[in-house]
Amino acid sequence: MTGDADALAVYVHWPFCLSKCPYCDFNSHVADAVDHARWRDALLAELAHYAAETAGRTVTSLFFGGGTPSLMEPATAAAVIEAVAGHWRAADDLEITLEANPTSVEAARFRDLGAAGVNRVSIGVQALDDAALRFLGRGHSVEEARRAVDLARTIFPRASFDLIYARPGQTVESWERELTEAISLAGEHLSLYQLSIERGTPFFAAHRGGAFALPDEDAGAALYDATQETCEAHGLPAYEISNHARPGAECRHNLVYWTGGDYVGVGPGAHGRLTLAGEPVATEQVPGPANWLDAVAAQGHATRRREPLGWPARIEEMLMTGLRLRAGIARDTFLARTGIELEDAMEPRRLRRLLDGGFLVLDARGLRATGEGRVRLNAVLAALLA
Ligand SMILES: C[S@@+](CC[C@H](N)C(=O)[O-])C[C@H]1O[C@@H](n2cnc3c(N)ncnc32)[C@H](O)[C@@H]1O
Ligand code: SF4
Repeated sequence: MTGDADALAVYVHWPFCLSKCPYCDFNSHVADAVDHARWRDALLAELAHYAAETAGRTVTSLFFGGGTPSLMEPATAAAVIEAVAGHWRAADDLEITLEANPTSVEAARFRDLGAAGVNRVSIGVQALDDAALRFLGRGHSVEEARRAVDLARTIFPRASFDLIYARPGQTVESWERELTEAISLAGEHLSLYQLSIERGTPFFAAHRGGAFALPDEDAGAALYDATQETCEAHGLPAYEISNHARPGAECRHNLVYWTGGDYVGVGPGAHGRLTLAGEPVATEQVPGPANWLDAVAAQGHATRRREPLGWPARIEEMLMTGLRLRAGIARDTFLARTGIELEDAMEPRRLRRLLDGGFLVLDARGLRATGEGRVRLNAVLAALLA
């Protein structure tokens, strides 16, 4: 990553799914009908709105997230890509990622998305075990997921997929087998999330009611350790807590978030971080799809929050996200983005305790968590920033 103040990432949220998974608390909804032309025009309106104050900058990545953006009409994705290239300068190696659900994949749709300019897909495989897919309420089988990944790899230059582990009853041995298969299927990038129980989801009530139990802390730690070892042994080390890649195949878009770069966020509930006239600004769009659409129709955008963040808050965010990365926070990037040295961003005694405790390392390259520190990153951040 560079500390280039000119660079910009763009996030586009597509909030619809074919069905709502019982564990998921993303801003995703099942809709009877979607007026694709209206959605396209509204997304284009929000892009134009943010482009007006960030014109001249270079877009290094565009990310269609969701929800299930593989349900977008390829023509909508094409219009968004064209608009992005028109509003800003497009980097030569512009990364254009789209999240896909294996259920929504047809060869023709994938081909059209590729022709539109999408050059990276991230597929929600979730498990390579049919019983686990049923438990997770997914609408696809392992076989369909494999076919979706195989197809994606023939169409897009880069592909990744997501798995959810630390599922009820999962053993280290069965997870290692599943993960080894996933690595051979994936090729260059995998996102591996531990199942988390989110308030307000059907899983929250079911879990509380005793319908299932998650692995306890020790079992969860053993599964995490097995994940690190297996991925490392196969050449896909973790470059972030939940993300593994062959060196060079990291998701550039997410690196922008984690290294404190600027990004525009459009679509329902999207967040943005922009440095405008030297000051960090936070933006957030109206979350509900219908309200978002109405607000864009009425005023050309659906920004519900737009406020100066202040450098102390922005720096705290950068420390929290930067320490998620194995490479940590690069000294020169941090200085270029904030105007201050890393050491001056932290309370010296708190920092010293974590360095002496073996949880953090600070050297000429920058600041990063040790293996010990990464395992208990939340506690490390609380001790550093409280
Ligand atoms: C927006 S979804 C991905 C794309 C697509 N909607 C799909 O599900 O195939 C992002 C990812 O977050 C992960 N995720 C969502 N809720 C989770 C939870 N409660 N625990 C762990 N991972 C979760 C899933 O792996 C999912 O693929
Ligand atoms: S996991 Fe993906 S498909 Fe399932 S509800 Fe969430 S966003 Fe939609």
